[in-house]
Amino acid sequence: MFIKSLEVNNFRNYVNQKIEFSRETNIIYGKNAQGKTNLLEAVSLFSSGKSFRRAQDRNLIKDGEPSSKINIEFEINGVGKDAEIIINRESKKYIKLCGAPLHKTSELLGQFKSVIFSPEEMSLITGAPELRRNFTDLVISSEKPVYYNILKRYYKILKQKNNLLKQNNSSKEETLAVWNESLAQAGAKIMVYRKSFIDLINPYVKETFEEITEGKEDIKINYVPSVSAEEFEENTLYDLLLNSMNKKMQAEIMLGASVCGIHRDDYSFFINGKNAKSFSSQGQQRTAIIALKMAQAEIIKENCGEYPVFLLDDVMSELDFERRNYLSEKIKDKQVIITCTDKYESAGAKCFYVENGTVSEE
Ligand SMILES: Nc1ncnc2c1ncn2[C@@H]1O[C@H](COP(=O)(O)OP(=O)(O)O)[C@@H](O)[C@H]1O
Ligand SMILES: [Mg+2]
Repeated sequence: MFIKSLEVNNFRNYVNQKIEFSRETNIIYGKNAQGKTNLLEAVSLFSSGKSFRRAQDRNLIKDGEPSSKINIEFEINGVGKDAEIIINRESKKYIKLCGAPLHKTSELLGQFKSVIFSPEEMSLITGAPELRRNFTDLVISSEKPVYYNILKRYYKILKQKNNLLKQNNSSKEETLAVWNESLAQAGAKIMVYRKSFIDLINPYVKETFEEITEGKEDIKINYVPSVSAEEFEENTLYDLLLNSMNKKMQAEIMLGASVCGIHRDDYSFFINGKNAKSFSSQGQQRTAIIALKMAQAEIIKENCGEYPVFLLDDVMSELDFERRNYLSEKIKDKQVIITCTDKYESAGAKCFYVENGTVSEE
């Protein structure tokens, strides 16, 4: 997978800028707050439909402008493609793939694949469960669109259920029981996907982690569903979820919120047998994130035959010598776009200097 070019119009601090990338290493350097990360944000929009910085769409539009347009040209398995995203302040966003309009943002998932490495991604280990759910949901959805549809259905029903729970009428039980059935049905499927994703990614994460730590440390990601399950078989999970939701019905009515279900699932990282959220060092967390992202790249490679584009936002300066070397070695024959404040020598790299929303090629 290669990105050939990126063109941004009224995006963040850019008026109009087109960049032609090298198929190998691209280095974007410049002082702070000049627009380096903004470029990676624009590229990764095409992989997830959303800002990796979790910014709202309207904040991506240049201040004072009504809309923003971003285009990329990319190549997958030797086939050239292009995509366009138009973000409007007042209406929904428009997306085109090879000239054809997409009806939903989700149709973009899985088309252009990139993996982002950034210091903020450390929050995947230390932050709220929602961040881990979002990450895994995005990776699974990009590989399996059917998963995204089930997830969407689940959240739609959950919203209705929550609205009902918040209302002040007395007879809710019957309707809740019906919705709990639908939630348990979708939820059981989602749990099967989540469990098999964790089983799939674990060996890759472990391998990279052991390589970086030279076999001295080990890692394991655990799936921690809202209902504890021994066996991840759909019918069993359906029964588990439904029983648990129905048992908690009165509590949910009192609280006015759904306390049980896959929207409460989590994942935990165990390093050397200890929960990394509370017990790991920053260095271990960085290693874990590198391992997780490399694993994501390997899964993409397995599914589509090609590595994704690697986007490295200011990470090199954060890493110590060993980790930097390891990462450089791993990505050297792949397409990477690296941002940094100090230009560094990398043989054959294409360099771009960014100043105040203007990019000059060197
Ligand atoms: N919607 C926007 N409109 C105009 N400028 C913006 C917008 N969003 C961010 N910026 C500007 O972009 C710059 C930050 O860009 P960024 O790519 O994060 O910097 P860095 O080069 O440090 O990675 C800041 O100067 C900020 O004011
Ligand atoms: Mg930055």
